[in-house]
Amino acid sequence: MSRASQLQQEMGLGPAWLPRDGWFERHPAQMQRQEMRAAAANAAEEIASPSVAAAAAAVNDSPSLDAAAVAGHATEPAAHPTPLPDAPIAETRIKLPRLEWPQLQREVADCQRCRLCETRTQTVFGRGNPQARWMLIGEAPGENEDKQGQPFVGRAGQLLDNMLAAAGLDREQDVYIANVLKCRPPGNRNPAPDEIAACNGYLLQQIHHIQPTLIVALGRFAAQTLLETADSIGRLRGKTHRYQGVPLVVSYHPAYLLRNQPDKAKAWQDLLLARKVFRQAAN
Ligand code: URA
Repeated sequence: MSRASQLQQEMGLGPAWLPRDGWFERHPAQMQRQEMRAAAANAAEEIASPSVAAAAAAVNDSPSLDAAAVAGHATEPAAHPTPLPDAPIAETRIKLPRLEWPQLQREVADCQRCRLCETRTQTVFGRGNPQARWMLIGEAPGENEDKQGQPFVGRAGQLLDNMLAAAGLDREQDVYIANVLKCRPPGNRNPAPDEIAACNGYLLQQIHHIQPTLIVALGRFAAQTLLETADSIGRLRGKTHRYQGVPLVVSYHPAYLLRNQPDKAKAWQDLLLARKVFRQAAN
């Protein structure tokens, strides 16, 4: 059995979900679904940019993707072709001077901007390649992350890694993973608005440095926070949004998927949408 098949099985997906030679994308039922999704997205004007609207509408025309093309480093130089504008970071709720990456890491490590600094073991800055074209954003460190100083460790992290690998993405090379909050809320309670506001400038600076081609918001909390909406994850999935000018796709949180196995198939659909939007945005 191929590695991809093994990963799919670990995700609880049958071999029918393998994007083998593009058959899945070209399947009439899938094409119809994608067309309906794109039409609905257009009608709701939830796609802010014409180029991304084209990306969503054109998903059925895309040939199947090889892993390197999805990750974006085979066909393109490491440098980002269209840098984000070097303007003051908009919507920074607590203003931070623009910091270089190592300074930003130090600033986060020493942060005392909210009460979470009193209960954390350590901050969790992020993980992966700061030059990556994909950026994944979760909610906040949990108990294990707080202990290890890395986002998405443990079973949820393993599932996320498997899903990324099945989509042709290497977790260390092709993605950067960060959270809305850099410190664990005690008892894994929901982050409070003032904590989000205090931490927001760090995430904005991370995005500015990384200049991702695509952002994937993992879970309801991250999606609602970034998109400043109370819409359910069911309404937010399957569309292309924008955050800080970057196309953003919403998917389920890996920890939720561990508890709700049937929704893994929907998460796989989200990844398929994400890589197609990525491919279109990268061109
Ligand atoms: N959940 C998150 O959203 N982020 C982590 O880093 C771990 C669990």
